[in-house]
Amino acid sequence: MNTLIRLQKYLASAGLASRRGAEKLIAAGRVKINGATVTKAGTKVNPRRDKVEVDGLPVKPAGEKKYYLLYKPAGFLTTVKDPFGRPTVMDLLPRKIKKGLFPVGRLDKDTTGLLLLTNDGEMAFRLTHPRFEIKKEYLVLVRGVPTADDLQKISRGILLEDGKTAPAKAKIVTVQQGKASLLLTLHEGKKRQIKRMCSALGYPALSLKRVSLAFLTLQGLQPAAYRVLTTAEIRKLSFLAGLKE
Ligand code: URA
Repeated sequence: MNTLIRLQKYLASAGLASRRGAEKLIAAGRVKINGATVTKAGTKVNPRRDKVEVDGLPVKPAGEKKYYLLYKPAGFLTTVKDPFGRPTVMDLLPRKIKKGLFPVGRLDKDTTGLLLLTNDGEMAFRLTHPRFEIKKEYLVLVRGVPTADDLQKISRGILLEDGKTAPAKAKIVTVQQGKASLLLTLHEGKKRQIKRMCSALGYPALSLKRVSLAFLTLQGLQPAAYRVLTTAEIRKLSFLAGLKE
């Protein structure tokens, strides 16, 4: 946060009030910048250098939000900390960047592929909640070759013990030696959903990889490598998740 931002935005993003509410606080003379009372809402502040106070109490700037895309390899748990000390996805990130980060959603220990990590709880919630319809694509290798009828069942929804799955897209990508590779597109993420859907139809999953989330893919990354999301990607993701910039 090097740039100057409007005082009401600073107060709102610090969680103090809505922007309208912040404007009222400013107009009421309750806000000081570097010890001087400010009553003009458009006043700019430098979140790094300026000392902002409301009613005499300091207002800390909102923490910087961070977003990383990791190519999860098999063998790592999707959790911040495992009580049994098993390897987690956090072990794949250097100490200096992982503070405060957590994985967005969950991939099983043996599942590979695209995993986001962030410290932005609102974004994480929206990217995983089915209401926001963020699409996730998976390649799953199954034993057996699903019939057109079975693929239809996936697209209509399958009854699992915790309810019916939402409509999903399913298509066969390749067939080899009695195994089929399927591309599945889902908007929800029940626990072990794909494995359970495939098993329910009689095609056990042999391997599973998440290949995309919204417009993000694994392009350019090797397993266990990660990268920072670009500003343009964060903006686009915020927009898709219904969060305004
Ligand atoms: N569905 C599964 O069964 N496992 C995963 O890791 C992700 C989706």
